[in-house]
Amino acid sequence: MISGRGSNMASLIAACEGKDYPADIVGVISNRQDALGLSVAAQAGIPTLVVDHSDFERREDFDAELTRRLEAFEADLVCLAGFMRLLTDGFVSQWHDKLINIHPSLLPAFKGLDPHTRALAMGIKITGCSVHFVRVELDSGPIIAQAAVPVFTGDTEETLSARVLAVEHKLYPHALALVASGRARAVGERVVIDDDDPVDTQLFSPPTKTNTV
Ligand code: GAR
Repeated sequence: MISGRGSNMASLIAACEGKDYPADIVGVISNRQDALGLSVAAQAGIPTLVVDHSDFERREDFDAELTRRLEAFEADLVCLAGFMRLLTDGFVSQWHDKLINIHPSLLPAFKGLDPHTRALAMGIKITGCSVHFVRVELDSGPIIAQAAVPVFTGDTEETLSARVLAVEHKLYPHALALVASGRARAVGERVVIDDDDPVDTQLFSPPTKTNTV
């Protein structure tokens, strides 16, 4: 599910086209008609639809419609990819351990909006991105995968978000593959991964200043 540009969605679509990738994208739902990602998905031959939150007076009704549409797609997993609406407790419970989100920080740091701006203001030297199962509290839940990204002196919100986004595009397909293949699963509030492999982590080792944005 998307709300905007859909670059993470595009990275999942590209990964799913891989021969041995353990998931397929059955559909893309946007809560906004003007989401740029909709045309990207359509060009890739993926069914798309808009469920406009402003058509619903109550969040519960919007979320119930989302569930109806997801069930019509016969979705087993739901990936939030820049989906910028708060979901109700009922929706989150219904999709418990089947609802995945990506957030551009090393959670539990910098939940919510403008994580890069706040990271820069605090002067932290390492940030990153996280993929997690969704729980009721915003940007919280068992962490499936994380990647670290350096913060450089002189970074702006634009340069830092671009550096993190490039890593998000590797991390999300990796995390989805872990879940879809059954290698990673939530056990209570932690994720256990079968045959944890350090090579997985090296894939996402921080870029150096010379080979990044
Ligand atoms: C991504 O950076 C994603 O991590 C973030 O929104 C951006 C969406 O970009 N998500 C959140 O902040 C969720 N709390 P995209 O539409 O190009 O994938």
